[in-house]
Amino acid sequence: EKGGYPHFMLKEIHEQPKALVNTLSPRMVDGIPDFGIKALSDDILKSFKRIYIVACGTAMHAGMVGKAAIEHLVRIPVEVDVASEFRYRNPILSKEDDLVIIISQSGETADTLAALRLAKDQGVHTLAIVNVVGSSIAREANSVLYTWAGPEIAVASTKAYSVQVAMMYLFAIQLAHVKEMISVDQTKILCAELMEIPQLVERVLETADNCQFYASKFQNAHDIFFIGRGLDYALSLEGSLKLKEISYIHSDAHPAGELKHGTISLITEEMPVIAVATQTALMEKMVSNIKEVITRGAKVLLLCKTGQDEMDQLTDYVIELPKCNDFFTPLLAVVPLQLFAYYTAVLRGCDVDKPRNLAKSVTVE
Ligand code: M6R
Repeated sequence: EKGGYPHFMLKEIHEQPKALVNTLSPRMVDGIPDFGIKALSDDILKSFKRIYIVACGTAMHAGMVGKAAIEHLVRIPVEVDVASEFRYRNPILSKEDDLVIIISQSGETADTLAALRLAKDQGVHTLAIVNVVGSSIAREANSVLYTWAGPEIAVASTKAYSVQVAMMYLFAIQLAHVKEMISVDQTKILCAELMEIPQLVERVLETADNCQFYASKFQNAHDIFFIGRGLDYALSLEGSLKLKEISYIHSDAHPAGELKHGTISLITEEMPVIAVATQTALMEKMVSNIKEVITRGAKVLLLCKTGQDEMDQLTDYVIELPKCNDFFTPLLAVVPLQLFAYYTAVLRGCDVDKPRNLAKSVTVE
């Protein structure tokens, strides 16, 4: 049942290209996204002026990439909230202008379901992005977009994250298209680039040996920090959650520019740092943040795109990603972060698929 892999998590990491193709292909008609949802006609889509994305854990991290994608292409404000905060903060919702997107792999997470009900009760349109067919969230939402990752068994979410992120991109492109924020040609170019991603993920999976080697270098750390900016910060949160969840190494993710506002006092030679730096526009700033931590003795593992000479020279520990549009790099960059967490947990002798204190589906509040 593990298809020859030692753990479900590793199997599911390797299933990502297929999961992405299965999720994206059926929604592409003549090179343009088409969700085929009656309740979400172009006219209804056009009417939304603000979006809330509500989820927990990894699904919330996928929502953070969604926020960046929608705000970049559609230029409407998007708020991302953890469900357990959203439902108790009396959120300001407008049934005329707002869309609430609920993201959940299982479709059964108690806080996420409660957040969905709260939004629905106020008459706001709810769109669920769910992996499990017929789950509570899928049944109750006004509209549903299924991700087609197939069953995810490992407690640590991997392929479900990738397809949630892919769906967020597709949604952002579709919304920008119907609101005429991008031309038909631009829409087709973005879709074509997105459809290339599964093949590129195959190539990133080839960095597995490298990830295993770096895991062996970092496996005895007590704490590890992740730093990044923009989309790379959203990814850093996901990389950090994956690592702490299965390896039990304490880790935190920080926006790289925030280090000097407190956290940098913790940087010593005992504190390895994983720097995610895939965004060309933020490269210069990241180089200086990386130098700041290296000066204080930190060992840095750098995740960047291939051909970044200035970056490569900063550290001996580098994982390179193939070239692609910066906008889509989260779908590539998450893979080495998953593999690094996986191999670190294996080397530390942890129960990778069933980490302590955790359940696959959190149906209690
Ligand atoms: O089933 P859901 O997507 O609603 O689950 C949400 C979180 O509980 C889940 O993503 C959790 O954070 C994972 N164990 C992280 O790997």
